[in-house]
Amino acid sequence: MSVQLRQQFVKAKSEGRAALVTFITAGYPTIEDTVDIIKGFQDGGVDVIELGVPFSDPIADGPAIQVANTKALENGMTVDKVFELVKKARASGVTVPIILMGYYNPIVNYGEVEFIKASKEAGVNGFIVVDLPPEVAVQFRNGCYEYGLSYVPLVAPSTTDERLEVLCGIADSFLYAVSRMGTTGATGTLSTGIDALISRIQKFSGSTPIALGFGISTREHYLAAGSSADGVVIGSKIIGLVGDAPAGQRGATAKKYVESILKGDGTFSKEITPIADDESSNKKKIAEDVQEVHKFSPMFGQFGGQYVPEALHKCLSELEHAFDDAVEDPAFWDELKSLYTYIGRPSSLHEAARLTEYAGGAKIWLKREDLNHTGSHKINNAIAQVLLAKRLGKTKIIAETGAGQHGVATATACAKFGLECKIFMGAEDVRRQALNVFRIRILGAEVVAVENGTKTLRDATSEAFRYWVSNLDSTHYIVGSAIGPHPYPTLVRTFQSTIGNEAKEQFKQLNDGKLPDAVVACVGGGSNSTGMFSPFEHDLSVKMVGVEAGGSGIDSDHHSATLTVGRVGVFHGVKTFVLQDDDGQVHDTHSVSAGLDYPGVGPELAAWKESGRASFVAATDAQALLGFKLLSQLEGIIPALESSHAVYGGVELAKTMSKDQNIIINVSGRGDKDVQTVAEVLPKFGEEIGWDLRFNKDHPDK
Ligand SMILES: Cc1ncc(COP(=O)(O)O)c(C=O)c1O
Repeated sequence: MSVQLRQQFVKAKSEGRAALVTFITAGYPTIEDTVDIIKGFQDGGVDVIELGVPFSDPIADGPAIQVANTKALENGMTVDKVFELVKKARASGVTVPIILMGYYNPIVNYGEVEFIKASKEAGVNGFIVVDLPPEVAVQFRNGCYEYGLSYVPLVAPSTTDERLEVLCGIADSFLYAVSRMGTTGATGTLSTGIDALISRIQKFSGSTPIALGFGISTREHYLAAGSSADGVVIGSKIIGLVGDAPAGQRGATAKKYVESILKGDGTFSKEITPIADDESSNKKKIAEDVQEVHKFSPMFGQFGGQYVPEALHKCLSELEHAFDDAVEDPAFWDELKSLYTYIGRPSSLHEAARLTEYAGGAKIWLKREDLNHTGSHKINNAIAQVLLAKRLGKTKIIAETGAGQHGVATATACAKFGLECKIFMGAEDVRRQALNVFRIRILGAEVVAVENGTKTLRDATSEAFRYWVSNLDSTHYIVGSAIGPHPYPTLVRTFQSTIGNEAKEQFKQLNDGKLPDAVVACVGGGSNSTGMFSPFEHDLSVKMVGVEAGGSGIDSDHHSATLTVGRVGVFHGVKTFVLQDDDGQVHDTHSVSAGLDYPGVGPELAAWKESGRASFVAATDAQALLGFKLLSQLEGIIPALESSHAVYGGVELAKTMSKDQNIIINVSGRGDKDVQTVAEVLPKFGEEIGWDLRFNKDHPDK
């Protein structure tokens, strides 16, 4: 199987041209079109076909392939259906090698070995997995080797020599070189520096052929790229063409396009001689000890890692080193701590007497992150990361935001330090959090409304990663939660640990050196919870309880309770719990609070769940509203809807504890931003919790 792939490159070379690799997403524009398009590719004369396995969150892809993924999934495409299509193509006479290209989560979900086995049975020749880091790729590649299939590594202009050596060592048929830093997409012009890129790779790749992709769309591009690379990959242009072609014409369109690329290559032959699968010529299994050295482990038990497109690796590594140096540098901490007066730290810790009385159990204490400048804990991380960005010499900042609190905090930090700032926000959240959108703009930052997918935090995060990969030199991405690839979960938790460190000291001072019995925080991605919990991690007498968004109930499809009902997967660069369907597609989520509306969760929380060190519960939208009401009316504090989940969970926990025990609830933010949302949803949930604020109850519409 992999030998067939190698042979295609040999054949093209003998014909004096570059091998042509064409891409189509399985199931796009319709499931029925796929085999016709594959046949069209073969009839046109391509050398290798890449078949995209659709994924809900394709962070390395530009608009054309994003749309193709979304459409294919809407059409009901699944991994098993991809295998059926390959079988059908083979049965109808397709002999050109087929490579499956996709993201890792559907493979993890299917089971790696089962996936490879089923691919072999269907007639697949190999794989490209966009977000597989080398240390995991080695295992996967060895699994492919068992079945005679090929693993094709991706390399990017930013790939370091050390990594090139590893990735070239993994390649057993060809390497896929990404021509530019950015996402897939047809562009009018070919990237510059291709010759230099190919010759740098060749220093490590030896005789392994290199195919160049990203941004190639014309015969001129094919000829220019093919003058230095052994193969040329074309994707987005084809997606556009077949998408525009009328039904019944899509196979013919694919054929015609391929012919237009290859035309004029006189020696070109469409003959494909099936060759014996001589596995002995495969590269042997390779050692599975490809590990990079890290100061802080990227893993929390089995969770964490860096599951990112190769192009992102260099800047993550740059950020990791900047963070490693900063935490060792007293001057960094002095500067950060000097800004605590600007933030309003330390935030207070005090008893909540009436809430305690209401619960009738443990004494409840509140850690008041809502009192911070900008109204939430997000500012702790935003300010610290701006200082890191300055150390890195970056002049532009991007961030994602859900509730808008991280966006406001980032825009604030950028205003203070004179950095250009762009905030990505799902279009639905732009609507829900209009007040914060305006605050961000007042602060001089730009808000980019993300219209793809579910139009919420997850899409904003994907779009921020896409933007970052195209603008690495000038831009730092301030991730707002303890999520994403290493070093973000460790970095964000470190900067948010000020919450738990302060709370611990404050509580001890007020309680003769004692520790609380429990700490409670809401969980979106995990920044306020890991910040509150981590200083107590080794104090085993202290229970750590995270409260997730139960939305309409965890038995419904409308919630964001990732740790409570999610399964292990890989999402936004990290292995963690993920809300996903049976096919490994990431679920839509729902919560009344935009800041908890996320289908992944920080890997450290995932590890604490697995080890049992922390426990997690879910509060429904209505229960969160009750928490909102209780804190407002018993303590005179209007909390953010996110924090209201923790208030509800904390009160329920207090009820089960004795009066001589103590719990601290982290009030992660204030609720001004949510007043409009509460007014909108109270008519729906009010009855459930006995709360109606309408002026004219006899005429509920008024
Ligand atoms: C006030 C507040 N609390 C909590 C969260 C959830 O995020 P995390 O889990 O990272 O603390 C958000 C997110 O926007 C928020 O605005």
